[in-house]
Amino acid sequence: MKISVIGAGYVGLTTAACLAQIGHDVFCGESDVPKLANLQNGVMPLFEPHLEDVIKSVRKGDRLRFGSTEEAIAWGDAIFICVGTPPLPNGDADLSAIEKVARAIAKQVSGYRLIIEKSTVPVQTGAQLRKHLSVHSTHGLEYDVASNPEFLREGTSVEDFLHPDRIVIGADSPRAADLLREIYEPIVQQKFTCPIHLSCPKREQPIFLATDTSSAELIKHASNSFLAMKISFINMVANLCEVVGADVTKVSQGMGLDPRIGPAFLNPGIGFGGFCFPKDVQAFIRIAEKSGCDFSLLKEVEKINQHRVEHIVEKLRNELWVMRGKKLAVWGLAFKPNTDDVRFAPSLALIKTLVDEGAIVSAYDPEAMEKAKAAFPDINYCSDPYEAAKGADVVLIVTEWDEFRQIDWDRLSTVVERPLIVDCRNMLNPSEAADHGFHYFSVGRPPVLPAQASSVAFAASSPVGGSRQKSF
Ligand code: UDX
Repeated sequence: MKISVIGAGYVGLTTAACLAQIGHDVFCGESDVPKLANLQNGVMPLFEPHLEDVIKSVRKGDRLRFGSTEEAIAWGDAIFICVGTPPLPNGDADLSAIEKVARAIAKQVSGYRLIIEKSTVPVQTGAQLRKHLSVHSTHGLEYDVASNPEFLREGTSVEDFLHPDRIVIGADSPRAADLLREIYEPIVQQKFTCPIHLSCPKREQPIFLATDTSSAELIKHASNSFLAMKISFINMVANLCEVVGADVTKVSQGMGLDPRIGPAFLNPGIGFGGFCFPKDVQAFIRIAEKSGCDFSLLKEVEKINQHRVEHIVEKLRNELWVMRGKKLAVWGLAFKPNTDDVRFAPSLALIKTLVDEGAIVSAYDPEAMEKAKAAFPDINYCSDPYEAAKGADVVLIVTEWDEFRQIDWDRLSTVVERPLIVDCRNMLNPSEAADHGFHYFSVGRPPVLPAQASSVAFAASSPVGGSRQKSF
């Protein structure tokens, strides 16, 4: 099928590349002229594992083209709208980009089109789209509007698109539902050439869930908000663990063994970031407020998350005493590993707080430094973690990149000013750091100091309020 994708961001690029990969003829429209020129010259605007390879392959097969929004709109029988829906100051989703595309379609197109909202949108956006497509239609546009929310995680978006757990569509006509089923059939049947040779075990066939538009729109916001709630829940429990000397990783492990809870998204840390959870929780709260529903539960989820950075900084103040003039190494800037995305990343909030208190920050991230420089041009960006740790009073692990798991402890010991690690993602084994002479602090776990290292196995079993050090 000839398919148009409007928007070449994290979602649009993955959608365009993967739909081409499974056999469709795709035209991806991008309104940002420099970004479009780069794409046409094979220059990627973002880092996403495997995506560049897939795009190169399908472009070679002439199944993916890049051009203007207008060219894309003219191309496909189905048009996926994948433009950004960032938060407005009041928390509402900014739908101006969506509305702009809808107007362009209405003014430009005659004949039938299936218009699919892939961007994360508030419930009943589909109804608004239908109304405005009719209002602005000038060439006899016939259309259906459908919802097809994305469940892509940055860092694994190609795999998530090609091997999803479920495909959700919301359509209010049989024609729209049938067209979407035809578009996704190769994925439902898992019958296509997988471009990334996944070593994953044989995937079950994804569930193709067809519902009405509003329900599909709600599934997205409700899913992301629930996942965010799990994260805030375990962060809340981690705070209690720090006071009573328990180990939140054991608590999380014990909880996750219950299949009704599951182990995923129960990792405490410095909080959730990215362009999805923070804005989706906000938008969901706003939708509920405007509908007269009490979503105070999600307000607490948001509040817990917003306090994570301050929670870490408070502990830093206790350890460093005077923050002004102290040298802090920040390992990791991206909001999660395997992406260069720093949007709403906790690292940015952390660095702002530290810099405002006069600390000197040196940062390293394998992928995200270019994007972070826009926010913080004046901190030091280093070529490797050890350069960032040079003269550091503390090393902060903020994003759990795999390369931070293999630390050259002797090298690190020689460059730091003070052997102190604050692991904001609980990625290291506590006793490993202490065995190498470092004071090790993490989230929801007792601190481990070099003298304690050998006894750390029993630390968590000591009685509450016993002789042990209060947790970090
Ligand atoms: C999320 C949803 O997972 C995905 O289904 C949706 O389509 C888009 O939003 P993404 O934002 O890419 O995906 O990343 P995700 O892996 O969900 O992590 C989001 C944030 O939560 C990251 O900052 C991550 O560090 C944090 N997180 C995740 C935790 O703090 N603890 C966890 O246990 C899991």
